[in-house]
Amino acid sequence: MAVIFLLIFVLFSSSNFASALLPTTGPDFSCSADSPTSCQAYVTYISQPPSYKDLGSIADVFGVSHSSVSKANKQVSADGQLVPGQPLLIPINCGFTGNHYFANVTYRMNRGDNYFHVPATSLENLTNLCAVTDLNLGLNPTDVMPGSDIIFPLFCKCPSKAHSNAGVKFLATYVWQSIDDVFNVSNKV
Ligand SMILES: *[C@@H]1O[C@H](CO)[C@@H](O)[C@H](O)[C@H]1NC(C)=O
Ligand SMILES: *[C@@H]1O[C@H](CO)[C@@H](O)[C@H](O)[C@H]1NC(C)=O
Ligand SMILES: *[C@@H]1O[C@H](CO)[C@@H](O)[C@H](O)[C@H]1NC(C)=O
Repeated sequence: MAVIFLLIFVLFSSSNFASALLPTTGPDFSCSADSPTSCQAYVTYISQPPSYKDLGSIADVFGVSHSSVSKANKQVSADGQLVPGQPLLIPINCGFTGNHYFANVTYRMNRGDNYFHVPATSLENLTNLCAVTDLNLGLNPTDVMPGSDIIFPLFCKCPSKAHSNAGVKFLATYVWQSIDDVFNVSNKV
């Protein structure tokens, strides 16, 4: 199994909508001179019933094949069922855009989805509204209908030379959950 290094991504907890627009703290998703411009990376998704409680429905959120997610998560049972809160690694293609790494994910809007809320709900804060709005400048959010495919840029990163030298082949983005502590995060994946 290749070594995957977790990028712990800390968000300001916010109780109102406006503060969700604040920049996030945590790892730097910018590029360093010795990092490749694209690579395979992972994001960590936490199973959340009722909609996203099995491998297939979560793979569909990110538009990736079920088999690629199975391959990255050998601990998941064959039926793909997950317990609530179980983390799943999702393989994504990470690339350098502007001055940050992002993985473009095509998300199909479901009935009841709100463009402004998708980053914090279905996408579990693996992106934020600033990044989403920057990528979709021509888009009028009120025109977004159920069934529309919208590109959401997820935070990701390619290993630097220092990572590679340390044997790290892939980086995984993990959004800090308030119930976590440092010890059980590292046990999760
Ligand atoms: C995303 O972040 C917001 C603001 O901190 C938080 O209220 C929300 O619960 C988070 N979403 C998930 C799925 O953890
Ligand atoms: C993501 O999409 C943007 C806008 O279409 C594009 O400029 C960028 O190169 C894409 N990035 C990746 C990693 O595919
Ligand atoms: C992580 O540890 C905290 C505090 O020890 C505990 O409340 C929480 O349930 C643990 N989370 C998991 C997923 O084991």
